[in-house]
Amino acid sequence: MTHDSHRRPAERLALLKPSPIRAITDGTPPGAIPLGLGEPTWDLPEVGRQALLRPSGPCGYVPHAGLTELRKAVASFHGAHPDEVLITTGSQGALFALYQAWVDPGTKVLVPDPGFVAYPALARMAGAEPVPYRLTADCFRLDAEALLRVLEATSDVSAVILNLPSNPTGGGGDLASLKRVADACVARGILLISDEVYRDLHFGVRAPSLRDVTDRGVVTSSVSKGWGAPGLRVGWAVGDPAWLVPARTVHGYAVTGTATPAQWAALALIEHSDTVLAEARAAVQLRWEALAEALREELGHSVTPPDGTFYHFLPLPPATHADPLAFALKLRDEAKVVLIPGLAFGEGGRGHARLSFAATPEQLREGVRRLAPYWKA
Ligand SMILES: Cc1ncc(COP(=O)(O)O)c(C=O)c1O
Repeated sequence: MTHDSHRRPAERLALLKPSPIRAITDGTPPGAIPLGLGEPTWDLPEVGRQALLRPSGPCGYVPHAGLTELRKAVASFHGAHPDEVLITTGSQGALFALYQAWVDPGTKVLVPDPGFVAYPALARMAGAEPVPYRLTADCFRLDAEALLRVLEATSDVSAVILNLPSNPTGGGGDLASLKRVADACVARGILLISDEVYRDLHFGVRAPSLRDVTDRGVVTSSVSKGWGAPGLRVGWAVGDPAWLVPARTVHGYAVTGTATPAQWAALALIEHSDTVLAEARAAVQLRWEALAEALREELGHSVTPPDGTFYHFLPLPPATHADPLAFALKLRDEAKVVLIPGLAFGEGGRGHARLSFAATPEQLREGVRRLAPYWKA
């Protein structure tokens, strides 16, 4: 009995394509320098490692919303009440649960362009349509004017997504812009999600939080970036419980709860935020300095650090803008350096590539040295 030829994934997946990032990273040749990775390359902080080794007792389920102590710690970090916290499997788990809970088929979700690839993909999985809004032309920061123009012109908007500082651009935004967007979403009853996973990896001034302007939206974050622990898969949503309760139901049916030992470790990391985050910023600063020096010496670029993240949005030579994917594949296979073309994050990223400086200083110096001939050509 073979019905395989008739098998098709669910219709809601029809518009969902594998991440274009995979087209670059799959098939990376041996010896290539990975400047595409969006994850810390430094060790899991010792307090987190120790907490994974809890000596005795059962390793049981915890409430769907998360370990009580962890909810309290996350609440205190964000200046919220524990009832305003839902612990999830990475911040991606929080985004998934929120979209599934609040985004109806046929509605629209406003997403930054360029922006993190999951925002439009999760909209499509919910049967909705992602609608891009642009960032400022000079530094790829939040452009409230541009976002509000799209909001005014779009009907049936179910959610708006912000990401300060931004993957892939590193651009942040100011408090006044954030407030304008929050006020517009609150007035319309639209779910506003502010993805703040990179907020603590800043250079100088920390980007404002949505919590600074309203407690009626939802902030998502995780231990994956600043706390150096993407493999723990612990994230959270913080916001109005009215938004969180249906998301908690989705989260419960999807995964029951986040892995218990991972929550112990996340708790230890958050309890030591002062040192863990300061050390992470020092690690990122060191890497930025190595990258900036290499970019100056090898490419003649004079660069300033991003507002936050560990991404440099590297301008591509104009001749490559027509087919940035082909150029990225050429860099991968000939120069043996992996970069992610900005186009993977939306049309607004066409002229750039995302270079992750979470890599080691040696990898950064060698990587830029290998790239140089392609910029000079
Ligand atoms: C902007 C942004 N949001 C969310 C995530 C999801 O991360 P996690 O699920 O590990 O918290 C990432 C991961 O790269 C990201 O770059």
